[in-house]
Order: sequence, then structure tokens, then C-alpha cells
Amino acid sequence: MTGRILGTGAYVPARIVENQELAKLVDTNDAWIRERTGIARRHVAEEETTSYMAAQAAREALCQAEISSEEVDLILVATSTPDTIFPCVACEVQKAIKAANSVGFDLNAACSGFLLAYQTAQAYIQAGLYKTILVIGSDSMSHVIDWTDRGTCILFGDGAGAVILRAEEGGLCFHAAHSDGAGGGVLTGRSRHRKDWEEPKHMEETFLHMDGQRVFKFAVRSVPEIVEELLKQAQMKQEEIDYFFLHQANKRIIEAAAKRIGAEISRFPMNLQEYGNTSAASIPILLDEWNRKGLLKRGNKLILAGFGAGLSWAGSLLEW
Ligand code: UT7
Repeated sequence: MTGRILGTGAYVPARIVENQELAKLVDTNDAWIRERTGIARRHVAEEETTSYMAAQAAREALCQAEISSEEVDLILVATSTPDTIFPCVACEVQKAIKAANSVGFDLNAACSGFLLAYQTAQAYIQAGLYKTILVIGSDSMSHVIDWTDRGTCILFGDGAGAVILRAEEGGLCFHAAHSDGAGGGVLTGRSRHRKDWEEPKHMEETFLHMDGQRVFKFAVRSVPEIVEELLKQAQMKQEEIDYFFLHQANKRIIEAAAKRIGAEISRFPMNLQEYGNTSAASIPILLDEWNRKGLLKRGNKLILAGFGAGLSWAGSLLEW
């Protein structure tokens, strides 16, 4: 049994922040951001929360899959920016979409989170535990960004993407995933916790810290490696893959990965120019965009690959 994608959905906040607007906050400019990252604008949550965006994306996916929320057995949400520590986002989504027959939990693997949630869902389906699974990536990166740090605040955006998986016989399904905790210091989101028994005060904010060049090198190395690992497992050649849906972090990372893989850049869908890096949401938002544009045909072979904090990187090879 494998989980086939029956429907996709996405949600991004209404508020758009252009590169020029960021130039009023930090010492940067539109030309630098476009040239070094490919990003032109991003969507930033004002009223929207991580669980609200997740529920909106889920509704779209359910609608496209033409199934009722009561048919969902499991809700998995990949996020590193939940609204609250508990209840988890998945339970908030369950409430919002009235998926009364489901169980839900969150999973945090930063930007690799959607892939690891997707693989977890496939494992549940393969084990015969659940038949219909809603997998969501949702992040409000604007909440954890240091808006005075030009090296990071230009990169990220907010949003959510969702897929519905339904157990079916057959279908390609190969997975690979890795972590390198020892290298994790290059990309962190730390919060400084209060000791309120000593000195009651508000919790300090969480800020993202990143060594951009080290993360860049890690991404350019790890993505082609995981693609090679998947192709080896599936005994396929890169030429047989229709599209490579990579985590949308930086256009130059995607171009460098494409070069190393030896595949033309036209097979690497991109939308980071519109949304920036939406962390766990980037791959399902892109998948939804391609799907709704009618660019994916049944039987297409896809590789999805993500990388990020942890360090972690993961990929799946599937048939649309
Ligand atoms: O989900 C995973 C998350 N993270 C990533 O994927 C990030 C991976 N890394 C990157 O995308 C790139 O490393 C960045 C886009 C973050 C930075 O690009 P870079 O080409 O590696 O730039 P750099 O860090 O080597 O900096 C070059 C120069 C520096 O100035 P000096 O020292 O040469 O005078 C920076 O201070 O560019 C400066 N700089 C900026 N200038 C204008 C850094 N950020 C900015 C900025 N605007 N926003």
C-alpha cells in the first residue's frame, strides 16, 4: 500500500511585503535580494496564525480531493512555529475542519518537516494503520525572525500547504532522510526562557540565527546526495524524473543543485520569488501551485527534497 495524493491546498497571508519595504527596515536593497536569493516579495501574517493557515490549506485540499473531513484518520502538521506549545496545531486544525474521526499531532523538523511528515504518513499507510491522512506544512516564520538582521529577515515568509493521502495498491514510493545534530549550530531558533520563580517577567522573544554561507554549502551538497540516494533505491536515472520539487530557500541553491544532479533547471519548479522561504510549507505550497495550474499529469515521477535546521535533509520519490 502507498499513499497517493488525492488533493492539495495552500494558504498564504494577504499582506505582501516587497523587497523595497524591507530596505526601510535594514540596510539592503531590492537588487541585492533578487540577485543573491531570487526573492522579490513574501507574504507576512498579520491576523493569521499557523493553525489558521493550516486549516485553510486543509480545507482546499479536502475540497479538491472531494472527501469529507470526517473521512480523515490522521492529521500530521509539520511546523516549528506553532501558535502555542500545546494544544498542537494538528488538534486546532481538527477542530476547525471538524475532522471528528481523526487523531492529530505535530512534528518539528524545521524546513525538512513536510518531507518527514509525508514519510511518517506513508509509513502509517504501509503499516495498515490509517487509510486517509492529511499532511500539512505550516509556518509563521515572521514570528521568529530578527527584523533587524539583514542576513535573515529578507529570506522568509509565512504560509501553509496541505496534501491528502489515500491508501492505494501500487505506486512508486521511495524515501530517504538524514540528520546531523552535530552540525545544527549553524541554524538555530532559540528562546531565552524566564525563571519566573526568581524574577517574574515576560518570556523573551525567539530569534532565528543563521550562518548563511554554511547553510548554503550544506544545502548544495545534501540535496544532490539525497536525490542520488532515491534514484539508486528506485533504480532510476535522473532523466526519468519529470520534476524536482525542492525546498524553496534560495534560487542559487536550486540552480547549483540542478547542475550537480545534471538536470535542466526547467524541471525544478520555483515560486520563491513570490513567497520567500516558508519553511515546512514551501514544498506543499509549490506542489499545490503546480497541481492547480494543471502542470502535473497522472503518472509523472516526482522527487520532493527538503533541507534545513537540525541539520536535517529528506527526500521522497513518488508517482503523481
Ligand atoms: O531553510 C534553510 C534556510 N536557510 C538558507 O537556505 C540560507 C542559505 N544561505 C543563503 O541563502 C545565503 O548565504 C544568503 C542569501 C543568506 C547570503 O548570501 P551570500 O551570497 O552567502 O552573502 P554573504 O553572507 O557572503 O554576504 C556578502 C555580503 C556581506 O557584506 P561584506 O562582508 O561583503 O561587506 C554581507 O554583509 O553581503 C552582505 N549582506 C547584505 N547586503 C545587502 C548580507 N545580507 C545582505 C542584505 N542586503 N540583505
